[in-house]
This record gives sequence, C-alpha cells and structure tokens, in this order.
Amino acid sequence: MPATLLKLLVAVGTLLVVAVVGVLGWAWWNSRLPETYNVMDYGAHEYGGGTVPGEHTGHHGGALDVAQLKEAKQGPADSRFTLTARKATIKLASGRAIDGLTFDGQSPGPELRVRQGELVEVTLKNEDVEQGVSIHWHGVDVPNAEDGVAGVTQDAVMPGGSYTYRFRAKQLGTFWYHTHQASSKEVRRGLFGAFVIEPAADRPAGAVDLVAVAHDFDGTPTLNGNDGLTKQQVAAGTPVRLRLINTDNTPQRFTLEGTLFRVVAIDGTDLNEPQPIENTTVNVPGGGRYDVAFTMPPSAVELGIPDYAAALALSPDGQGDLPPPTGGTEFDPAAYGRPTKTPFDASSRFDRQFVFDIGRKPGFLDGRPGMHWTINGGIYPDVPVFVVEQGDLVKVTITNDTKSVHPMHLHGHHALVLSRNGEAVSGSPWWTDTLDVEPNDRYELAFRADNPGIWMDHCHNLKHAAEGLTMHVAYAGVETPLRVGGRAHNHPE
Ligand code: C2O
Ligand code: CU
Repeated sequence: MPATLLKLLVAVGTLLVVAVVGVLGWAWWNSRLPETYNVMDYGAHEYGGGTVPGEHTGHHGGALDVAQLKEAKQGPADSRFTLTARKATIKLASGRAIDGLTFDGQSPGPELRVRQGELVEVTLKNEDVEQGVSIHWHGVDVPNAEDGVAGVTQDAVMPGGSYTYRFRAKQLGTFWYHTHQASSKEVRRGLFGAFVIEPAADRPAGAVDLVAVAHDFDGTPTLNGNDGLTKQQVAAGTPVRLRLINTDNTPQRFTLEGTLFRVVAIDGTDLNEPQPIENTTVNVPGGGRYDVAFTMPPSAVELGIPDYAAALALSPDGQGDLPPPTGGTEFDPAAYGRPTKTPFDASSRFDRQFVFDIGRKPGFLDGRPGMHWTINGGIYPDVPVFVVEQGDLVKVTITNDTKSVHPMHLHGHHALVLSRNGEAVSGSPWWTDTLDVEPNDRYELAFRADNPGIWMDHCHNLKHAAEGLTMHVAYAGVETPLRVGGRAHNHPE
C-alpha cells in the first residue's frame, strides 16, 4: 500500500473516532439534568392536533398557579384524619421484622374510610423520614393542589413539617394513598394505605366489606401486612365485598376459591351488570384495584395469590381454609358485564389525539449510559408534554414495544378504554386509572379534560418511573412555581 494512501486512511479513521466520541460526548452532556429544574421546562409540548392555546407560548406561558387549584366549596370537614410518617420496625406475623417507613407506625397505614360527598381533610406530618414525604390519593380525581406530587403540586414535607389535604370525595370505590416523594423507594418500604369511599347510605346490616392490600416487603409477600394465612369468621348468607389493592410494581394474580363471585368494580368504578364467574384469576396491575363480591356460602372461601403464603380465608366458623387452587381461566375486563351508555365513545369527535409509545433504547439518562425507557422515542426528560384545554375530549393511544408490562397511571382523571389491539371493549364500560399495557399491546383510551392542573402520567412500576418512564399532561394556562431537586429536596419518582 502506498504511504500516502495509508496516511489518508489513518487520517480518516482518526476523524471518524473523533466524530463518534464527539457525538457521544455531546449526547452525554445534553442528557445531564441540572441540580434543580421545573418539569414544564422539559419535554416537547404536543397539542394532539388541537388548537395551540393562545396563552400557552411553550414555556411558562401560564397564569394560574397549581396552588390555586383547590376544592371550590370549602367549609368544615366531614372526615378528618392525621397521618404521621415515621420510621418503624414492621413486624410480620411470621416474626420477620422489616426496617420500614410507616404512617402511624404501621404498614399498610391506617385504612381510611369516608362516605361519598364528604369533605375530607387529612393532615400529613413527617416525624423523621429524612428524604421527605407527601401523599398522593391514587385514583381519586382530586383538585391539582391536593395531588401530592413533590416538586409539581407541593414541596416534599421534610421532618418536622406538615401539609393538609382537603378534597371532596366525589367518586365511589376503592383507592389507595401513598407517598409521591422518592416513591420508588418509600412506597416499597411501607408508606401507603387503603382509601375507601363508601356510598353515602348505610351499608346493609351485617354486610362484610374488607380491603385486601397486597404488598411485598423485601421479598416477603403480604396481604394486609400479614405474610401468612388470615382466618376470619363470616356467617353463611352474608354479602361480602373484597377490595383487592396491588401496591407492588408488578401485576398480582388473585384467586378466589370456594364460591361464585362477581368482579363489581375496577379502579373505583362499578362495572355494569357483572355476571357470576368462578375458577378465574383476577390480574390486578401494579397500583390497580379490583373489587369482587359474593354471598358467603356455608363453607370456606379463600382469597390468595399463587405462590404466596399470604392468604385470606373466610368461613362460617372462622376455622376453615382451602387448598391452593389449580388452573382456572384469566379474567378479561374487556369482555365482562354488559355495555351501557357512556358520555363519549370511539365514534366521538376528539379535540386532541395523542400517541404514547413506550420503547427502550441505548442512550444516556442524566449522564448514565445504558438501555433506557423511551416515550415516543425520547429518553427522559426528552419526552412529550401533552397540552390540553379544559373541556377537551382527549384520545390517547398507548403502545408497548418493550418486553416488560407497564401499568400506566394518569393522575387526576379516569379514562375509558375504547379498544385493545384493535378490538372494541365488548362488555361493561371499562374505566381505568391504572392500566397494564403488556408487551406488543395497543390500547386506545379516552378521557375528558375536566380537572385543570399539571398531572403526572407515568408507569406505576415505580422503578420504571424512576428510570424515566414518566411525563405530564398539562392544562394550558396552568403553571407550577415548584422545582424538582434543589433546596426543597423534591424527588417525585
Ligand atoms: Cu400511585 Cu403517580 O402514582
Ligand atoms: Cu413500566
């Protein structure tokens, strides 16, 4: 090879290496998040084909501070609670001790029950949780200032501090509350509890209404904080409602043996004409809630999760239990119950239509190289912000090009599932706030933008959220002065 050609090749090679290093360095540099930032400074503002709101000029165009978005009708509270976050040892029934974080010294925290229509007031105090805490009312469509997201709707409550939440319990059903500060770590360690909104009218005398909160403490699965079998006496003929709540990152397959049952609600919305089923596992997404109901038979009924020692056995004498179930079909929320009228459907005219594509690709997240989650191809914070206007009818199409299931959770709204993988929902209307999107799934959802604010829309596998699978739905004209990171120590994920 002539010397000149060799020189040329070396020169070209060197240039290529410099170029690649340069591009990578630039990508690395650009990916780094500043020490503190406003969530509205990031992301590509998308309008979903709708009008570009005049007062919304991209960044900080708004006039309304999230702190102003409070319950319109105040007055004396109908139900009042105080929850104190503190470190504590959580003792499981097996004797296992967990170095946990608790509300009022226990995990799950106190079960809060209110009646529909009540004005609820909850004062959160932080005794000694150094990273700070907040309370998000998962699935409750509260005014934005009460949503409990550190760095977006409030500052994290640091040790010695407090924050008071006030909202009207307009919905009905099964919800839960949890910290939304460093949530991927703090929820796992115990900062959560059940929140139930019961009908305003009294429950029929004798009816049994129980929560079943699934949580994995450091590899030990529990139901209502018990890692073994809980036995309870329930007289034959009693109407029973069990409220299944999954506080973990991954789906839980609940089994209910010994009776016919109905799935009567999903994510706090009653299903229309649910028919009796049996030998069916009910798959509850991470963060999701399913209610099941039955009339107590003269023999034992057992609620369990395959491979879990934790279970709940009900029986007329309080002694019975059942062997673990074998087989069974899987409950399909897209084809259960009967259709009925909804305020909008697939044939409605949508003001905005967004796409939420979940993917994974190599790149940098805050300077860290690796395989990272993407939303519409971008790695956090290079993710979209869906801008809406009050009153809009919004359609969102979610796809999942990864090998993981993602329980997608939109704050402040309930969405109607229109279709799954091209097939329309054929049973009861299916409203959700936490939807498991399995690999290769494609869902079409619709919601009414009727609750102004800046709302998180994220994966409720909280590990994934902390790894960047999170974005916001922002109402035009609303802004937050709060900052993630910085002196207020806000870390929503
Ligand atoms: Cu249950 Cu944003 O969370
Ligand atoms: Cu996920």
